[in-house]
Amino acid sequence: MQKTKFIYFSIFKHIMENKRIESAPKIEGQNIFPVEWEVETPELVDLYERAKKEAWNASDMPWNSLSPKDFDEDQKIAISYWFSVLATFERATPVFAKALIKAYETHAEQPVKFMFASLVGDEARHEECCMKCVNQLCPLWPWKWKARNSFEEEALKAVNWIYYNGSRYWRAFVKATDEKYSLPILFTSFMMAETGATTIFKSMAERAKHETFREIFLNIHRDEARHLAFTWYMLKKKLPYVGEEEKKQITKQLRAGFVFLSPILLEPISEFWKLPPNFLDWHRRLEEIARDAGLGVLSLEEKVKIWGNAVKTVSARLKQYGIEVPSMPEIGIYSGEDVKITEEDIALIGL
Ligand SMILES: [Fe+2]
Ligand SMILES: [Fe+2]
Repeated sequence: MQKTKFIYFSIFKHIMENKRIESAPKIEGQNIFPVEWEVETPELVDLYERAKKEAWNASDMPWNSLSPKDFDEDQKIAISYWFSVLATFERATPVFAKALIKAYETHAEQPVKFMFASLVGDEARHEECCMKCVNQLCPLWPWKWKARNSFEEEALKAVNWIYYNGSRYWRAFVKATDEKYSLPILFTSFMMAETGATTIFKSMAERAKHETFREIFLNIHRDEARHLAFTWYMLKKKLPYVGEEEKKQITKQLRAGFVFLSPILLEPISEFWKLPPNFLDWHRRLEEIARDAGLGVLSLEEKVKIWGNAVKTVSARLKQYGIEVPSMPEIGIYSGEDVKITEEDIALIGL
């Protein structure tokens, strides 16, 4: 019996040796294949583990304590306005989905791909919080909202101007990821955004007078802190090797990130933001009403101070790699060179 089995096996082996598979063609160009699971930065594996453990459900936030009865009509509109502006920047799911595809196609190390996958989910959750706040106070604001008075009309027009500019950003971003920038440059503007995100949500959680707002800001802040750590792991790895030309592009990206995020972190800067006369008056008024209603919106002075300090920290870290932070007089940073940005300079930015 044993002998017969041996003969069969030998014959089978002989047949198979004469039936070899030819080598697969070489995969040319950017492609998500072949599969590989390279790990170069173990810290990113730990960070991805953290992302899984810290995942949370937006539906579990204390929505029951956010009652429309706690606010007057103008306050409900002003809070909804603020969240619909924030959603411009939290609508980052497609931003990171594109970055995720780029990471796969350029065969970044595996934890980078997994981190981007976690960011896609995180940003959906942040946008979901914006949507839930709005739906609780002014259902279907702003896209199906019928203005009942001139105050609401102006608030609707203001948010539509923000979205119009958001669409200009989206077109520039698609171009930037598809054809223009290397990973270190994309990660610089991304880092700038995450610095802003951690700063704003932490400060707002400290100031918010309402439990629901405080809880969502704290939870979003935890995600943003992880995103920020991700950007620095990547930058620490890449920045020592960037050339002089790339350093200049990075300096430009810092200004681009700052300008793009200005409506939420400061006030819209006209270098990118095309807004009509009177917009700023309405924007300020709506932020003021939302602040009085307990949302935790920072005053302009607080924004200048907090955002200015955050950028100074970024500046000190980047100096180690010979990278200059450009001048940002709006937040008291005058030391760097004057950099002017245009629509085309906007790269990867999403809160
Ligand atoms: Fe983020
Ligand atoms: Fe976010």
